[in-house]
Amino acid sequence: MCGIIGYVGRSQALPILLEGLKRLEYRGYDSAGVATIEEGCITVRKEVGRIEDLRRAIGQHPVGGTTGISHTRWATHGKVTQENAHPHFDRSGKMALVHNGVIENYASLRTQLEEEGHQFVSQTDTEVLSHLIGRAFDRSAERTTSAMVTAIREALQLVSGTYGIAVIHAELPGVIIGARRGSPLVLGIGKGEHFLASDVSAIVGHTRDVVYLNDYEIVVLNGEGFTITTLEGNGADYNVTKVEMTDEDVGKGDYPHYMLKEIHEQVRSVTDALRGRLSHEEATAKLGGLNMTNAALRSVERVILTGCGTAFHAAMIGEYAIETLAQIPTECEFASEFRYRNLPMTKDTLVFVLSQSGETADTLAALRESKRKGHRTLGICNNVASTIARESDGGVYMHAGPEIGVAATKSFTSQVTILTLIALLLGRIRNLSSSDGSRIIAELEALPAKIEQVLTLEAEIAAVARRYAQAKVMLFMGRQYNYPVALEGALKLKEISYIAASGYASAELKHGVIALVNEETPSIFIAPNDALFHKNLSNIEEVKARGGPVIGIGTQGKGAELSLVCDDVILIPDAPEYLTPILASIALQFFAYYIAVELECDVDKPRNLAKSVTVE
Ligand code: M6R
Repeated sequence: MCGIIGYVGRSQALPILLEGLKRLEYRGYDSAGVATIEEGCITVRKEVGRIEDLRRAIGQHPVGGTTGISHTRWATHGKVTQENAHPHFDRSGKMALVHNGVIENYASLRTQLEEEGHQFVSQTDTEVLSHLIGRAFDRSAERTTSAMVTAIREALQLVSGTYGIAVIHAELPGVIIGARRGSPLVLGIGKGEHFLASDVSAIVGHTRDVVYLNDYEIVVLNGEGFTITTLEGNGADYNVTKVEMTDEDVGKGDYPHYMLKEIHEQVRSVTDALRGRLSHEEATAKLGGLNMTNAALRSVERVILTGCGTAFHAAMIGEYAIETLAQIPTECEFASEFRYRNLPMTKDTLVFVLSQSGETADTLAALRESKRKGHRTLGICNNVASTIARESDGGVYMHAGPEIGVAATKSFTSQVTILTLIALLLGRIRNLSSSDGSRIIAELEALPAKIEQVLTLEAEIAAVARRYAQAKVMLFMGRQYNYPVALEGALKLKEISYIAASGYASAELKHGVIALVNEETPSIFIAPNDALFHKNLSNIEEVKARGGPVIGIGTQGKGAELSLVCDDVILIPDAPEYLTPILASIALQFFAYYIAVELECDVDKPRNLAKSVTVE
């Protein structure tokens, strides 16, 4: 989704801004732009396409200056055009602004401004905000930073919606002003220089000392220092945080794509999700971050799990685990729906919001809605500094390390691991026996080694993937715990290869989906050695009887039986039913990845997608 980086200091801003924009590429964007203050004027360059296109355009018309702001745009209001790319000017042409978020009442404000004689050059909601700030500043008798801050405050009072903004003005050289409501902004503190970004990965190569701004705060930064105030004009408390993420964490290493690197990181990320969270003595999980006593956990009568996309699929697996191991009625709800439903929730309902980024707008809205209704709401997040992590009543961090590939991989397996820990904990304070608890712990401890084994299947899976890469449609089937894996496998394939793929519960096949089966439509069955193995085999036979090619993802020991009915078989290690989703999904991540590579798709930057969807 849109990204912001601003720089003020002694160095030339442009190389820092372009490098920052490169690091924000993973968020997904369709155009980019920069603005710097140069000899009392603002110079803007924008381009549709990649950062390299912008760099080329700038090469022909260089821009200098030691203060600048820049942006990657993911279109919401207005087509993907150069005019709609940020930064946007005010009426005077002296002020430039970049914006993440959506100004919901922009249409009426634009009409009003047009009646006053303002002319707009773009179709964006953002340009309205530029004009509002510029109008307020131009009405002021003073031409100072504090007058600009007042103008920004006034303008922001008029808008509804969300924003993270960075503003520069030609008459205020050496100053950037930022403000946020609903869209993240982080201030980077350097020596004689400061940074403002929507995402810490944009500035981590320059500084580790950062301040995460809160909603309704305004920051003014120059080379020497910064001040943070609230929208009402009061001083704001802030903490300087040391970022743990290293430059290496946000690099690709020797891998051709982030997605492949992140698939391979799953031994470590699952190990880190488990680290320090297993108690052999009590045969349970230790999750102190939930901030709940056993008595409080015991009184939970209902669990709601909410998230979007891949996080929602992990939640579906969590639903099976919590109901099976803890016998607590559990429901999954898309975060985008949760807010608009009136789910019957008693006071003993516990809500979990799942989000890798911790910034997904729909999930954040669900969190706020749940808290508004007085429910204890816990986060399962990867980004520890994210809004969801900060606003949750407690939770469990994934510790998966930065996930840059747009297609979620390691965050999914970390979420499933954590949900299993939650199911174990809730089960052990209810009916789950100590010996069952110990068995689950042993299985969890054996998991990283099994993931390692799945990773050794890479070449084999790549060969299978290449054989099916030309298919136009693919079906993914699984039952019980592996039904969400089928959905996730289909989502991965769609996202990065653009092949139409759908996931179904295997037995649903005969209720309609089977109409799609023919010689050109491969079906992928996740059929581990579980209670429904033979039911899955029957469903495979139904596909084979109609000429459909079948790839079976099975478990070791069942290869012979699967080979009799499948065209290709991939065997993952045997595991209990609540853990096969982790192993099967890694095999499907490789499958999707190698199909996308075969089709020469841009794996890490799939079309139209954003890593973190910060608009509703
Ligand atoms: O950051 P989040 O976990 O909240 O993101 C939720 C979804 O947007 C995300 O999982 C999306 O579906 C991925 N592109 C899936 O690969």
